[in-house]
Amino acid sequence: QVFATCGAQVLLVDINPEGLAKGVAAIEKSLAKLAEKGVITADHQAASRARLSTSTKLEDILDVDLVVEAVSERPDLKKKIFAQLDAQCPPRTILASNTSSISITEIAAVTKRADRVIGMHFMNPVPLMKLVEIIRGQETSDATTKTIVECSSSLDKTPVEANDYPGFVSNRVLMPMINEAIYCLMEGVATKEGIDTVMKLGMNHPMGPLALADLIGLDVCLDILEVLHKGLGDDKYRPCPLLRRYVAAGRLGKKSKKGFYDYA
Ligand code: CAA
Repeated sequence: QVFATCGAQVLLVDINPEGLAKGVAAIEKSLAKLAEKGVITADHQAASRARLSTSTKLEDILDVDLVVEAVSERPDLKKKIFAQLDAQCPPRTILASNTSSISITEIAAVTKRADRVIGMHFMNPVPLMKLVEIIRGQETSDATTKTIVECSSSLDKTPVEANDYPGFVSNRVLMPMINEAIYCLMEGVATKEGIDTVMKLGMNHPMGPLALADLIGLDVCLDILEVLHKGLGDDKYRPCPLLRRYVAAGRLGKKSKKGFYDYA
């Protein structure tokens, strides 16, 4: 959505046709909301939508300047996709990952273009959030970093560079706070509303940590905490058992209509 709004031709790829349709519907809804609010004109809304096409085949990603991968936070899945993209894309293509915490260096190592692999981490909800965290892998070149920094600015985002350590900056700092809020809930320190209100009114956060976890997805939060715990080896990152229990029960947050809060 953001690339299309800023003038790029975009091919959105998902192996699942239902997922693809859901993604397109979410983009259309968001564009309509932005037009309704006067952030974009009706012409801009239509032109942005027209720049977006879809496919269910990874093989269709061919003659492109940039790929932004955003599949589930599973290292093996990402590596499989990057190996395939590396084999089929021309040398000029930069391969970026929107990973929240997985090592860019590790993903880049399955390709023959580690200098042109980089992290481009957008924040949820992407059309509204200004930040793009740009993660340099061990072999990412200065030229690739410069291109992606400039590209992010052209999307009207603010790029910040980070080095490749587990969770980078955003989730190294955010996830321990969310995890601690879940421990507070599990131990009965306060109610979910109480915990969120303390952080909203006491610390001026736009959302409380439990509502934010629901927005991000509880499964995603758990995956990120596992990466931090394993990658940094410190027990301060151990995922709260209540988070594990909710994910096991299929309470994944907003996307499953139930997380800490009920969205039905
Ligand atoms: N597109 C267009 N409009 C959208 C939208 C979208 N995708 N999502 C929300 N909006 C709209 C809402 O519909 C609402 O419209 P109305 O005013 O007409 O009702 C408007 O934006 C503002 O929403 P709200 O008034 O409900 O709330 P708000 O002013 O507080 O803003 C928010 C919403 C920007 C989400 C704000 O609450 C916020 O900044 N929350 C924190 C988000 C955050 O921390 N994100 C990072 C998560 S971490 C991550 O993404 C990375 C990771 O690796 C886990």
